[in-house]
This record gives sequence, C-alpha cells and structure tokens, in this order.
Amino acid sequence: MSNIVVVGTQWGDEGKGRVIDLLTRRVGAVVRYQGGSNAGHTVVVNGQRFVFHLIPSGILHRGKKCIIGSGVVVDPEVLLKEIEDLQKRGIIVNELYLSESAHVVMPYHKQVEEWEENQRGKLRIGTTKRGIGPAYTDKIARRGIRISDLLIKEALRKKLIINLNFYKKLYGIDFSIDELTSKYLSYGEKLKDYITDTSLLIYQLMRKGEDILFEGAQGTLLDVDYGTYPYVTSSNCIAGGACTGVGIGPGKITEVLGVAKAYTTRVGKGPFPTEIKGEIADALRERGKEYGATTGRPRRCGWFDGVILRYAARINGLNKIILTKLDVLDKLNKVKICTAYRYKGKIIRNFPAQESIWKESEPIYKELKGWEKDTSKITSFKELPQAARDYLKRVEEIGEVPIYLLSVGPQREDILAMNS
Ligand code: IMP
Repeated sequence: MSNIVVVGTQWGDEGKGRVIDLLTRRVGAVVRYQGGSNAGHTVVVNGQRFVFHLIPSGILHRGKKCIIGSGVVVDPEVLLKEIEDLQKRGIIVNELYLSESAHVVMPYHKQVEEWEENQRGKLRIGTTKRGIGPAYTDKIARRGIRISDLLIKEALRKKLIINLNFYKKLYGIDFSIDELTSKYLSYGEKLKDYITDTSLLIYQLMRKGEDILFEGAQGTLLDVDYGTYPYVTSSNCIAGGACTGVGIGPGKITEVLGVAKAYTTRVGKGPFPTEIKGEIADALRERGKEYGATTGRPRRCGWFDGVILRYAARINGLNKIILTKLDVLDKLNKVKICTAYRYKGKIIRNFPAQESIWKESEPIYKELKGWEKDTSKITSFKELPQAARDYLKRVEEIGEVPIYLLSVGPQREDILAMNS
C-alpha cells in the first residue's frame, strides 16, 4: 500500500497538476484535501489544455476515483460548471465523490472578501477573489454551511438565517433568504449523487489495499500557519493538512513528494526574497507562460530559492522532489540559486517567520553557468548538458532533498527520471 501526498514547495503554481496526472496511473484514487476554486491545476493532454479548480486532475484517467475531501471549501456553482465542461469535452465524470462535511463558499463570502481587501488598501493580500478566506472564517467561527446542508431544506434555511443576519449587521450585505435557500438546494439536488462520507470511503479503499494520492493545492509558503503570513491562503497546504483535510491518521501516509519549479514565481502580494525584475524576469514569464491559471494575473518571477526548499523539505517531511520547467531556463547564460539570506549583516540559513525579516533580507546567490541548449526534447537524464546537471546537483545539495523526477515541457511525456 502506498499513500502519497503531493505538495507545492513554493508559493503554488509549481506544476502539481501535471505531476498528479502522471502519478494517478499508479493509484486507485486521488483526493483534494484543502483550498477551493482559488487553485488552478493545468494539465496538457494530446495538445488539449485542461484547467482544474476543484476536481482533482486525476479525473482525466478513466476508472480512478476522484475525491474532494472535507478540508476543501466548495463553490457549488464552480464545481457544477467544471463537471459540465468536462462532460462537454467527452470526459466521463462518474467517479467523483464530494465530502458531505466540506464547507460551502457562498456569494456573501466573495462580497466580504472584496470589502476586506478594500479596507486593507495598500496592505491588501491580492487574493483570487473566490471567497476562500471568508468561507474558512465561517468554518472556524462555527457558523459555516456544509455540503450536507444543501440536501436538507430546514437545515440550510436555519443556517442561512443566522449567517444572513450576521452579514447584514456587520457588513450591510443583504441577500434574500428564500432565493439563496432555493438556489443552494437546487445545487444540492444536482450534486447529490456525488455527495458521500469521503473519510469512510478512503478508509474502505485503504483496507482493500488501494494506493491513494493526496493532492495539495497552493504551496508551502501559502500555508496559513507556516507560510508568509499574512500573505497566505486560509488553509493548511502542507502535507500535514492531508490528514485533517480528508480524515485519515498520519500513520497512513507512506510518502511525501514535493513539487518545485526550477525557478520561483508568486502571484498576489507579499515578500519574495529572490524576486527579479527586468529582462530576465520577463523572459521567464514569457517562456514559462507565467500567468495565473485562475485569475490570469502575471506572476512575479525570480531565481530558485534553496532556503525555501530546505524549509519545505522540513515542514512537509519531503522524501524527494519533482523539479518542473527546467527547459524555461534553457536560454540563460547564467543561472542563480539562493543559498541563504543576509539580514542586517547576519547570515540566515533557515526561513524566518517574521514578515519584516523577509522584506529586508537580501538573497545570497550561488551563480552557475547556463547551459544555453534546448532540453525540451531530451528523454533521459544522461542526455542533459553538463551545466544543467550541475544546476540540478546544486539544487539537491542546497535544498537538502533528492530530485526524483524532472520535467522539461508541458506534455505528459516530457518527464524524465533522475536515474535515466
Ligand atoms: P486566496 O487563496 O484567494 O485567499 O488568496 C491568498 C493568496 O494566495 C494570494 O496571494 C493568492 O494569489 C494566493 N493563491 C491562492 N491560490 C493560489 C494558487 O493556486 N496558486 C498560486 N497562488 C495562489
């Protein structure tokens, strides 16, 4: 039995979607454990581009169970549209399971989010505007609406009365109880065949000896506890989140795989020590198509940060990593890896918790020769130019974690093993 958690090691957008797509072949089920439609996982199959926001990208493999765990916040409108779009493209969606305990993103969450971001002014977080933060706030404040409530009129109405009163009093947000009740009951009706006790389902699958993949959304540095707080998302993206987000014990996890991009990107606001601006950043953005899969925003780009990888390896207990998008660096005549930060003259090797330290930290780089050769057609590690191999070796040394697979292009087949 192998139960693998796949996590992002940076600020999301590391290419987890295609890694999940690849690993899905080996497992019986793929499970999302946190986040919501703020995520955007892109997979390219036979030249066709698929972007997933809520449904695990494993859905492209027939017969694999795709499970949305209780730790996810679900916008039913987005989920139904995603199901419909997949069906229109000929994908059968009969192995989708939705946790009855997952919380629902409501329209008032999006309004509150907009209000809060406006209040923050210059200090705004730069969220994806999908209502994620307020939906998790309601969950923790114990007034949230759960998926199972969409199946029972009285339960939904009762909770909506409490919530709408609250939002009206505090934020002046006004929705009709009758309209929301009937709209969300109709979503429940459309989703009812997918709704189940997913923790029990996963337990039963494990007892049958099925292998399971747990799919993290966003990345380690967007984790609400261990990320660059407050510039984070509102859930636990790290590997530990898989246990609470699906309802399994930590002892069931057999492996944790990190996904890291060969350079670094970030969307939204917040510190980013290895960020670069200018020609090289623009080249990375264009070659790497670094535009948000959910919002289309241009991503901020920078050099690979080894401090962050070491941190992600520790916080997630990474066994190994998958490095993506190496080919994006192909044209550069020099490449840099951050090995530590300098803060007020002091060298910092471990990722600091304090916002003001990231802001004032200056990266210390190891500069290496670029390979200036096209790696995108390469099919084995041995064929890589020596300078590219040196780069990978340095990433492993500085990050203190071995690389297991490497991607050199967006297609399913553009992945090579480090020992090939
Ligand atoms: P929220 O998750 O929409 O609340 O946004 C909080 C922060 O997380 C913002 O900086 C977003 O840009 C970032 N974020 C949320 N989801 C993703 C993702 O899937 N990839 C990259 N950044 C994300």
